Amino acid sequence: MRLLMAKDATPNHAFAAFYAWLDQVFRADAVIHFGTHGALEFMPGKQVGMTTNCWPTRLLGGMPNFYYYSVNNPSEATIAKRRGAATIVSYLVPPLQQAGLYKGLRLLKDSIETYRAHANLQLLEDIRTQAEKLGIIPTTDEHPDGELPTDDSYVAALAHELILVEQRMIPIGLHVLGQPPSAPEAADMLGLIASFHSPRADMRPLPQQIASGLGWDYKAIRDRLTNDSQAQQRYERIEAIIREALNLFVNDSSYHSVDAFLAHEARIKPGTLLPLWEYLADIQRRLMDEQELNGLMRALSGGYIPPSPANDVARNTATVPTGRNLHGLDPFRVPSPAAQVAGEKLMAELVTRMAREQGHLPETVALVLWGTDNLKSDGEGVAQALALLGTRVLLDELGKVADVELVPLSELGRPRIDVVVTASGICRDLLSHQMLLIDKAARMAAAANEPPEFNFIRKHALAQAAELGCSIDQAAARVFSNAPGSYGANVNHLVESSSWENEAQLSEAFLSRKSFALGRGDENTPYGGWREARGVMEQALGTVDVTFQNVDSFEMGISDIDHYYEYLGGITKSVELKRGARPPVLVADAVGTTAGRLSTLEQMVRLETRAKLLNPKWFEGMLVHGYQGVREIETRVGNTFGWSATTNAVEDWVYQGVAETFLLDEAMRDRMAALNPHATAAMARRLLEAESRGFWDADEQTLAQLQQVYADLEDRLEGVHEQAVGR
Ligand code: BEZ
Ligand code: MG
Repeated sequence: MRLLMAKDATPNHAFAAFYAWLDQVFRADAVIHFGTHGALEFMPGKQVGMTTNCWPTRLLGGMPNFYYYSVNNPSEATIAKRRGAATIVSYLVPPLQQAGLYKGLRLLKDSIETYRAHANLQLLEDIRTQAEKLGIIPTTDEHPDGELPTDDSYVAALAHELILVEQRMIPIGLHVLGQPPSAPEAADMLGLIASFHSPRADMRPLPQQIASGLGWDYKAIRDRLTNDSQAQQRYERIEAIIREALNLFVNDSSYHSVDAFLAHEARIKPGTLLPLWEYLADIQRRLMDEQELNGLMRALSGGYIPPSPANDVARNTATVPTGRNLHGLDPFRVPSPAAQVAGEKLMAELVTRMAREQGHLPETVALVLWGTDNLKSDGEGVAQALALLGTRVLLDELGKVADVELVPLSELGRPRIDVVVTASGICRDLLSHQMLLIDKAARMAAAANEPPEFNFIRKHALAQAAELGCSIDQAAARVFSNAPGSYGANVNHLVESSSWENEAQLSEAFLSRKSFALGRGDENTPYGGWREARGVMEQALGTVDVTFQNVDSFEMGISDIDHYYEYLGGITKSVELKRGARPPVLVADAVGTTAGRLSTLEQMVRLETRAKLLNPKWFEGMLVHGYQGVREIETRVGNTFGWSATTNAVEDWVYQGVAETFLLDEAMRDRMAALNPHATAAMARRLLEAESRGFWDADEQTLAQLQQVYADLEDRLEGVHEQAVGR
């Protein structure tokens, strides 16, 4: 049997390479795809219901297409099935662990602990100096009491920044197919599950149980975490108990040692937690049940691959064992009631926060909607857009999400807030019903006979219709995506290849790809079709006060993939050029961290840098994987640079830290260059580009060293090439 093995982004952009690939496709008996974003499913053709004229069908014919897909990626897996006729074999993501602290961050925490035991001015000064060197400046906008911080509240705010880093869950290394997590890796994953889930409605998650056992109020601890030392110490105590308990749990199937430990540390009566242990033991069994290699072998021998939901394991534990054929969800159940509650709550927080910081309600929020996070949350992003507009979904007699209606202003208690939705091509395809619902909600809101000062979308659409010379209905288009059959905004490709001269080109790429709106059922476009609407989109961007996107998961953060800056960065740059100033950018974690779910992009860049990129626990986990590991590190540097290019949200210390950690440290540089000289040189080139484009104000010495390092790495690469051609 001839198998064609295809990997991540097998040529779908470079056509010369593509023709060579095509030849191999026709000569194979089956295709095995690895990773995300293969070529087939992004080929031209219909979005759903492929015909024999669509490229994926023409390429594949009757050939089986087996596709290894990460279990946490429902949207791309669904596209691979719909457009590439794929049989999915799911695989686990790398294990999640707490980031911990290292180097200067660890020293700062030690100093804070000493200060708490013996407060003195000298040490306080020292703490301030350490924090400044690390770029940790807790600002009043992050702790907006309005009052000048006291010494104690300053120290508590710093300590909270450290908690955010230390407790952040980060993926360690790369998953190896067929290799289940080790016991300590499983312990961290199960600890996360026990913190958010419980086996029974009448049983509270583990952190609450431990807090009660110790006589503490868990909610009060969480509420005071940003600025109260005692709450912080209690929180950390609870986290430490959970960690130790789960380590005992995974190594003792009788549960005696974990029960004894919790009785001693948290006064929880032995036996009380038996349902939790049984629940976690079942998940652990399924985590360890290796089906990934078996699954592919079964597929190749024509066997049956059982179905599986696709999600983060911690969010939906029915995703293990992996090695199964991923499915999406019933689009008529989206947004679910839970997603509506969560979406409304988060948008209320966003609106309150913006009103506090800007002194007025935001009139327009630009939302990026993707398939992944919506499929995993049963449509929270969709619910967020509907909530801002002051609308809600209506169910039909069968309980299906069928329609939308306006929430009366008297019930809403605030003005209707305008939205500009930019949906990924995948989201457009997978959630077409929801695209129509948001579009309808926007048009209904714009048409409502309400005072414009209580209905911002009406206010804007009235002005925009006059400006554009069109109907209010046409001016109220608020759902934008690519042209049919097209995907992506290309901002990432421009940034990655350094082939842009000015920021207008980034915005132009975004707008030219993303300015297609849902049709109005007129003579030009059928209802539900997509047509070019650049003028309407640009007008709508002119009122945007804040841009926003949901972050998919701890596993896929804003620096892990290039698509976050492609989308959220792309829309933000477009708003900036339209309005003359960059709007605030907010992102939301999928689950609440100690600071709640919302953070500014700047806060998230800092957190990703400290918890992942510069964290030895993270990069050593990558370096275990040799050539690919170095490439993964370089990818994160490139994606961080993408945030500079699109939003200017990256501070100098980030680039300085990257330079010092990976390139100016001789031992580390040699290690990386030996594993992957190309990626190591690319990282140096990216840092020099950051400096030359003005994203990084590097000191002269660092710059000179870096130039030398880059020249040496290039020489080394030429040596590699010479060897390769046998000179
Ligand atoms: C999506 O799920 O919509 C998506 C995934 C990857 C890149 C962009 C969008
Ligand atoms: Mg990709």
